[in-house]
Amino acid sequence: MEREEIDPKIARLRELKEQALLGGGQKRIDQQHAKGKLTARERIDLLLDDGSFEEIGMFVQGRGDGNGGLQYFGDGVVTGYGRIEGRLVYVFSQDFTVFGGSLDEAHAEKIVKIMELATRNGAPLIGLNDSGGARIQGGVVSLGGYADIFLRNTLASGVIPQISAIMGPCAGGAVYSPALTDFILMVRDTSYMFVTGPNVVKTVTQEDVTFEELGGASIHNGTSGVAHFAAANDEECLLTLRRLLSFIPSNNLDDPPYVPTDDPLDREDHELNRLVPAQATKSYDMKEIIHHIVDNADFLEVHEHWAQNIIVGFARLGGRSVGIVAQQPAVLAGVLDINSSDKAARFVRFCDCFNIPIITFVDVPGFLPGMGQEHGGIIRHGAKLLYAYCEATVPKITVITRKAYGGAYDVMSSKHVRGDINLAWPTAEIAVMGIDGAVNIIYKDIIEQAADPEAKRKELVADYQERFANPYIAAARGYLDAIIEPQQTRPKLIRALESLKDKRDTNPPKKHGNMPL
Ligand code: HXC
Repeated sequence: MEREEIDPKIARLRELKEQALLGGGQKRIDQQHAKGKLTARERIDLLLDDGSFEEIGMFVQGRGDGNGGLQYFGDGVVTGYGRIEGRLVYVFSQDFTVFGGSLDEAHAEKIVKIMELATRNGAPLIGLNDSGGARIQGGVVSLGGYADIFLRNTLASGVIPQISAIMGPCAGGAVYSPALTDFILMVRDTSYMFVTGPNVVKTVTQEDVTFEELGGASIHNGTSGVAHFAAANDEECLLTLRRLLSFIPSNNLDDPPYVPTDDPLDREDHELNRLVPAQATKSYDMKEIIHHIVDNADFLEVHEHWAQNIIVGFARLGGRSVGIVAQQPAVLAGVLDINSSDKAARFVRFCDCFNIPIITFVDVPGFLPGMGQEHGGIIRHGAKLLYAYCEATVPKITVITRKAYGGAYDVMSSKHVRGDINLAWPTAEIAVMGIDGAVNIIYKDIIEQAADPEAKRKELVADYQERFANPYIAAARGYLDAIIEPQQTRPKLIRALESLKDKRDTNPPKKHGNMPL
């Protein structure tokens, strides 16, 4: 059979494309694979719906002679658009095989171009980061390139969701751009984030530290709170990213995708009646409660490994996305401290930006007392959460499962901070402080003067419990809208959400508030 004649110009195009697809060359691709990492293009293929990727800027080349005359097609980053579950997204994927994915003028311009397209078209921006930061040879031009990106990250914040996956050693600008985005995912053992790497640390502070110790996935997920998700490998990271996107809308004017559910809307769950222990000092797992309530027990936890005394994450109720904020009595009794305040405040603000109703489950003994917290600025950090709940205008539904003590009662989406529907279980206790503490303060003299102080204290505790540690006083004031049986929580929440689906509320016009930071 005669071979088809290929126009030489088309042949040339194909040849150049093949060259571009190789990035920094086969040897470096092999090195990338040997480290357990996928290439920039393989990652895009896994992330997006099959065959949906349209590349922008494949033939862009680096500039300047700082690279020793070496130029590669693409300048170390693959950019373009595609689909996730049919929805438009813009993506950039840094190519570590070209100058360690470092960023110079052309590389930055490519990223800026798709950031602007994403913002104008109201589609999420996804960054797959694998970069040594500003390209050293580029000097101030590389620094300027990062600043151009930081500016666009900031302008796009609250307009389109921005999600960053960290998929290699990322330094300098390669961590500050992700830090300006909404969510950061990291891959265990192959991804790192630091402002400066171990070599520079050694020079400046004489500390000997490994990549992992300085900025591995465990550190940023468990200690610093910089990252929100940790995945076992590149594949799991990209699948988690797709799942995350399924809960959030494409832009701030859109609603999150509705996902029909076979989980009955009126499903009552009797197990819920048994999950809160009768004894107020006993702990229980709030995640179990969440699983019993949401559609098909499907809950995507955000910041799973950091500040575990509070739980935040996404789920659906009757097919609608919700953001869940919940105390975790199983960790530090669910107390509010510096990190849990920061964690929840950031999550509440994300939900508010993107029209995601917030469901708050409350079991909080108050703010954590002590020197460490006070000196660390618990006042400033706790105020962030207060501010976030106060300013949020999305539907806010609250369920008090047990304790709602002190300032923490106010903070946690109370009626007073514009909670729309405030519910409590009969096990709820709403008070200025814990029962023991309250009795010791207000009945100090009576206890001291009693013939048997301990017996008197117990009697007063029981009396206080009977009179104040219940939800009925708050309900009598209208601070609670209803006291419900735990088993009814799912249907009650779904009906409340339905009633709030067209909610409109605004804050006074202003340039922006001055959130305590
Ligand atoms: C140019 C770079 C580079 C960079 C890495 N490479 N980073 N080239 N500019 N910033 C090159 C290396 O020379 C090497 O090229 C290849 O990429 C792979 O790098 P390795 O060091 O061999 O890889 P690895 O051991 O995995 O270490 C990766 C790394 C390390 C941790 C990223 O390379 C590193 O510390 N780089 C410098 C990080 C940094 O300090 N960046 C500047 C940040 S300042 P060859 O040809 O040998 O394979 C910044 C300012 C922005 O970004 C503003 C912030 C607010």
